[in-house]
Amino acid sequence: MKILAIMGSPRKNGDNAEIVGSFIEGAKSAGHEIDVCHVYDMKFKGCIGCMACTEGKVDICIHNDDFNKMYQTIVDADCILFSTPVYFGHMTGPLKTFIDRFYTFLQEDYTLKHIPGKKFITVVTSGAPENMFCESVTGFFKTWFGEFMKMEHVGSLIAGDLTKNGTIKEKTKVLQKAEELGKSL
Ligand SMILES: Cc1cc2nc3c(=O)[nH]c(=O)nc-3n(C[C@H](O)[C@H](O)[C@H](O)COP(=O)(O)O)c2cc1C
Repeated sequence: MKILAIMGSPRKNGDNAEIVGSFIEGAKSAGHEIDVCHVYDMKFKGCIGCMACTEGKVDICIHNDDFNKMYQTIVDADCILFSTPVYFGHMTGPLKTFIDRFYTFLQEDYTLKHIPGKKFITVVTSGAPENMFCESVTGFFKTWFGEFMKMEHVGSLIAGDLTKNGTIKEKTKVLQKAEELGKSL
């Protein structure tokens, strides 16, 4: 299976990176192919709601930028992993801006192309205990990618408090869970 990991944290050695790293180890050992994309490394603009994509006036988007370059990788992925720290109660801004560009997958009659049927995984970390913010951010992904975009949510990894107060035991637990999830796909 082709897995695309979309990394929404600016920190390449942070909590998300560590959890996704364990997931990738597991997924690779099960023979899956992984692409990783760091949204903070990409140059792309926000959706301006011009509707050129849904009206079929352009192939992908009027912004000819790094999102458009990623388009085919998104289309080809069997499974997309979204990973983000909680920033002020939400996913990070660049990840949200990246996700807004998924509007290109909507057609004029509001049916979707390329996305329905894909699997997706969410990874959300926070400074506060995980039940404070991680679940509501995960809920966003479940609503929009699960219910609206008709993807199948096959795994959720959440972790709070890892950096400051988290114990080694809690960290080991989430890293093991991540690796097992990767192996199980
Ligand atoms: C700008 C900013 C905003 C944050 N907002 C929150 C927040 O609203 N709630 C929370 O629990 N943690 C918040 N945090 C802490 C991060 O979510 C937490 O440290 C996370 O695990 C970092 O993940 P990373 O190491 O993968 O970047 C914030 C951190 C930053 C830098």
